[in-house]
Amino acid sequence: MSGTLLINDKIKKFNKRIKVTGDKSLSIRWVLLASQATGKSKAHNLLMSEDVLAAIDSIKKLGIKVKINKNYCEILGNGINGFNFKKNLTIDAKNSGTLGRLILGLLIKSPNKIKLVGDNSLSKRDFSRVTKPLQEFGAKFYYKKKNKLPLSILGSKSVKGINYLESKGSAQCKSSIMFAALNSTGITSIKARKSRNHTELLFKYLKIAIKIKKTKKYDFIDIKRPKIIPSFNYQIPGDISSCAFFIALTTSANDSQLLIKDVNINPSRIGVITILKKMGAKILLKNKKNYRGEKISNIFIKSSKNLKAINCPSELNSSAIDEFLIIFLIAARAKGISYFKDISELNQKESPRLIWGSKILNMMGIKTKLTKNSIKIYGQPNLEIKKPIIIKNYLKDHRIFMMSTIAALTCGGKWKIHDKDSINTSFPTFLKIIKKISSKYYEINK
Ligand code: S3P
Repeated sequence: MSGTLLINDKIKKFNKRIKVTGDKSLSIRWVLLASQATGKSKAHNLLMSEDVLAAIDSIKKLGIKVKINKNYCEILGNGINGFNFKKNLTIDAKNSGTLGRLILGLLIKSPNKIKLVGDNSLSKRDFSRVTKPLQEFGAKFYYKKKNKLPLSILGSKSVKGINYLESKGSAQCKSSIMFAALNSTGITSIKARKSRNHTELLFKYLKIAIKIKKTKKYDFIDIKRPKIIPSFNYQIPGDISSCAFFIALTTSANDSQLLIKDVNINPSRIGVITILKKMGAKILLKNKKNYRGEKISNIFIKSSKNLKAINCPSELNSSAIDEFLIIFLIAARAKGISYFKDISELNQKESPRLIWGSKILNMMGIKTKLTKNSIKIYGQPNLEIKKPIIIKNYLKDHRIFMMSTIAALTCGGKWKIHDKDSINTSFPTFLKIIKKISSKYYEINK
């Protein structure tokens, strides 16, 4: 835990343009896939956050050459399963569930044991969702504590495609299996509950043989091992999950507006926009473009005075999975009682977010009714916090820190928010952008 932010005033009205940093899901996928490509790949606007740097460090340890230049990152891929490393290797996924789970999919042929470790938060998270299917491919796992990090993986010489039902709606699990399919003979078939589809779009763009049949709840994905993956350049678009904090800030600020440039608006990621618009937020998507299967646009937001509660349809859960904390904050300012159900997955994140999100709302004077799987939020449109609030965040959850900052800037009160440095995992420029919008210096203790 380090760095504390003190906020004593609400944000003044603003009218600005901003750009957020590159999409985290796409950045990690680009690093891992470029490591399997043959030859030199380049990415511009790669997110330079701790999670992505941990991905770069991991592939370097696995023998892949990486150059980070001022404006781009270059990876010299060594082909599928072209890793080259010494015995007793340890790789560190730090705080990143995406890195930890996806990279295991690339290691199912490893001839030596590789140890995977993570920070305190990641070591509390469940890895069975990926070790289970990867065992079916033939990999072996060794743990100190079952299904938790640290664990070691030992690959298998001959790996055959599997049939698997992914029932949680976890893109990390689906992508880990898809990465394993790159190394497997035969066909890998996944029946996957809907979740973000960046890996599918990248596979298609790279001409990897992938067939997808969509139904309302599931995608049926078939993958055949490619002979090679061609090297590829990529311009990473802005991260909608980072934008979400600024969409919420503008929505609940007074008389303000904001334009956010070049954001990835992949339909499997924009649940936050759909939900907030249903609640009365004023959000417009402008200049839509296609980029290698992804959709990109500018997002224009105006403050909104009449926010109303929502009974959130659970079909939207997976496309808003990382944004619920900030959606809860808007529900706290909306008229009526909002209800979010079937969201136990939120407790599987960097911290148990359903529980912690509810606690923060309670500290703000908002009533909630919490179950393991749902939350009711009793909104107060005229909420004015007068008392001091201290947010401790010793599990290093970047989104708890950012949600608390937006709450402090829009609801009043005197806030002391710990663990400022957690933003470095996903959105290192978060506080710089806050400063640009508010033209104000907020006190930060190291
Ligand atoms: C991610 C998938 C989601 C999300 C995470 C990033 C990804 O996790 O919460 O921040 O890049 O695949 P789950 O797949 O566990 O839902």
